[in-house]
Amino acid sequence: MSKTLQLYQRARRRIPGGTQLLSKRPEIFAPEQWPAYYSRAKGVEVWDVDGNKYVDMSLCGIGASVLGFADPDVDAAVKAAIDNGSMCTLNSPEEVELADLLCEIHPWAEMARYARGGGEAMALAVRIARAHTRRDKVAFCGYHGWHDWYLAANLARGDMLDGHLLPGLEPAGVPRGLTGSAIPFRYNHLDELRAIVAENKDELAAIVMEPVRDHDPEPGFLESVRETADEIGAVLVFDEVTAAFRMNTGGIHLRYGVNPDIAVFAKAISNGYPMAAIIGVGRVMQAAQTSFISSTYWTERIGPTAALATIKKFQQHNVAQHLVEAGKRIQTGWKLAAERVGLAVHVGGLPPLSHLAFDYENGQAIATLFTQLMLERGFLASIAFYASYAHQDEHIESYLDATSDVFTVLAEAVRAGAIEDKLNGPIAHAGFRRLT
Ligand SMILES: Cc1ncc(COP(=O)(O)O)c(C=O)c1O
Repeated sequence: MSKTLQLYQRARRRIPGGTQLLSKRPEIFAPEQWPAYYSRAKGVEVWDVDGNKYVDMSLCGIGASVLGFADPDVDAAVKAAIDNGSMCTLNSPEEVELADLLCEIHPWAEMARYARGGGEAMALAVRIARAHTRRDKVAFCGYHGWHDWYLAANLARGDMLDGHLLPGLEPAGVPRGLTGSAIPFRYNHLDELRAIVAENKDELAAIVMEPVRDHDPEPGFLESVRETADEIGAVLVFDEVTAAFRMNTGGIHLRYGVNPDIAVFAKAISNGYPMAAIIGVGRVMQAAQTSFISSTYWTERIGPTAALATIKKFQQHNVAQHLVEAGKRIQTGWKLAAERVGLAVHVGGLPPLSHLAFDYENGQAIATLFTQLMLERGFLASIAFYASYAHQDEHIESYLDATSDVFTVLAEAVRAGAIEDKLNGPIAHAGFRRLT
């Protein structure tokens, strides 16, 4: 048995759920086949614990490693921070420099606080909004992490979050007293937001959403959300955890000319080192002083150092343009390869966060077989492609050649009704579920 499988079996006995992040479970990709553990990662190359080497054309650190794994510039800055003491009784000056830089890039913002993870930072934003407005309820759209304020939506009805990226999220352990405190609306459905507002007008602390995720806003949608927040005195929070620093340097909202009161960054902001920033207008951010929001490791030096180095590299090298071009080539490549062999696929997403769906009843089995066959050809590949600055022409070309081969096999297997027969393991899981 491979070291990876042995290790993962041990993990499942010792670690409830096997991993710390749902999206790193091998079951999400290809159960019993996906190389769950790495020994080394550099650029877009990954070595698993069995010594196999892959090119990562999948999630690149689940969207965190936007410059590539072990980026030399970010790592040099981090190593210097370690040599000078990454933790101290005093504060790290980098957090002030980073606050200035983030407010320069987002001129509407005046102040910043920090955390180290996306979901945690979103919880902080919601706390600040509630403290500022002295209200409890939150209208939201999209996925925002694991915290109580968000999962509370599924207390009212178990499927309230199903249309918001991750289906099947269980709110077990979330106090039932929070029922009705988080109310979802769908992206581009202003009518749904208006209905929530009509019922909860004086109780809404915040409207929380990603400015963009899969598709562009309808004309006027973001502007109307902004107006609605202003009308009822709610804080508009843009979750930029995944969308920022991909299409442009900074929050994706900068492309649409609609400013929130608070914007939250994590993931790509620091190229894989734990860091998250909550920036906002002064009058709202000051409410952070009226609530107890404080944590020891929010003061360490590596996070802000990595963020400064990452953002500066973004600015200097026009990283976003590289990510957009790489994503466009992958989307076009998927479409052409599918058309050539008559495979029905759906291709979508912002180019740097591209995704692919096989339009068949057994689409999940086809996706699993795609991953299996790509692993055999030396690629970490799935139904999503997150672009990295380390993706070079040669990676994209060899990936698209392999994809073309694999799509031929998939199309033949679809026609022969033989997809499941070709799988060397179970079908990948879709969404959240308990591991038995
Ligand atoms: C939009 C959005 N918000 C919040 C989160 C949660 O971030 P984290 O996994 O760092 O807690 C994610 C993670 O995928 C996300 O995509």
